[in-house]
Amino acid sequence: MKAIVTGGAGFIGSALVKKLIDELKYEVLVIDCLNYASQIDSLDEIRNKALYSFSQSDISDKPKIEDLVKDFQPNYIFNLAAETHVDRSIESPEPFLKTNILGTYSLLETSLVYWRSLNGKDKEIFRFLHVSTDEVFGDLNLEDPPFTEQNSYSPSSPYSATKAGSDHLVRAWFRTYHLPVLITNCSNNFGPYQFYEKLIPHMILRATRGEKLPIYGSGLQVRDWLYVYDHIEAIIKVITNGRIGESYNIGGNAERTNLQVVQEICTILDEVITEKPNNLESFHQLITHVEDRPGHDTRYAIDSSKLNNELFWHPTESFESGLRKTIMWYLNNDLSRTYETKRLGLK
Ligand SMILES: NC(=O)c1ccc[n+]([C@@H]2O[C@H](COP(=O)([O-])OP(=O)(O)OC[C@H]3O[C@@H](n4cnc5c(N)ncnc54)[C@H](O)[C@@H]3O)[C@@H](O)[C@H]2O)c1
Repeated sequence: MKAIVTGGAGFIGSALVKKLIDELKYEVLVIDCLNYASQIDSLDEIRNKALYSFSQSDISDKPKIEDLVKDFQPNYIFNLAAETHVDRSIESPEPFLKTNILGTYSLLETSLVYWRSLNGKDKEIFRFLHVSTDEVFGDLNLEDPPFTEQNSYSPSSPYSATKAGSDHLVRAWFRTYHLPVLITNCSNNFGPYQFYEKLIPHMILRATRGEKLPIYGSGLQVRDWLYVYDHIEAIIKVITNGRIGESYNIGGNAERTNLQVVQEICTILDEVITEKPNNLESFHQLITHVEDRPGHDTRYAIDSSKLNNELFWHPTESFESGLRKTIMWYLNNDLSRTYETKRLGLK
């Protein structure tokens, strides 16, 4: 099998690429423009493998994408390339429109022309899987049931609005042109190699430096969390056995307030770091509340029963065990930490 993974040098994409090559023996072409959030070193383990190839390209560069797809002749295209940080989308929405909407459009158009050129078995098995987020549904009150695939879209931030826009395009290319697409909407991921601006690695990094741990507003906003490798398993099940034109929710059954997440990080760090910075007695002392993010959603929660029932997927890692593994990974990867620290321009 041959697969293109866009955004394959990012947090989730790199975990997917390694699984496809190492375990499933797929031939993989990674297409990634290597923006600030990419971590190309996360692919070091497979860089020299014959099954791996890489192109530094922007998914919105349609002529280049057309050449890559025509040359590589994929069976599957996984679209994970995106601008992904909500705070950055509030500061500067334009790159989100360009990549998340125009980039997805360029991939859909290219895929359609390519798919129409195929015959027989190759045409039958081709799939385009678009990886999206639970944030497209907007937010829930604390007493509401979790989002199902039937919830209408009601995005709040420029990030989630552009992801919602890209999902609509993908669905339209199925309804109008019958391109064999699938969509996944997943909750917050965590695990190794996540870029340091996201909540969990950001808090780990700051805590180990003895810096304040800033929590937006009350910190009582609720998110569902999923360990990244469980997300990868779900994506692979959906592309191989999901029903064409459908979307599948993916969640970890692990709702936590942001404050609880940071408190759990502090508790684990208290346990594993004996010599704490700045003579701290406990990392919990670093928690501090700052002005809330504009438009901050109250709660996301995801109902994955469609995926559980149709494709027999269930998360294997609990939030607690996944968080412990994630923290130990960050603490044990000094090289990566030093590298990222340098890149962020932090002292
Ligand atoms: N991280 C999460 O919690 C989460 C949850 C649900 C869904 N998602 C979705 O999963 C996908 C991957 O998320 P992630 O957390 O790995 O993101 P990430 O920011 O870590 O990685 C994104 C990758 O896409 C690449 N990229 C960005 N713009 C590009 C462009 N124009 N052309 C080519 N490559 C480009 C970047 O260089 C980077 O390597 C995204 O679509 C995101 O919306 C993420």
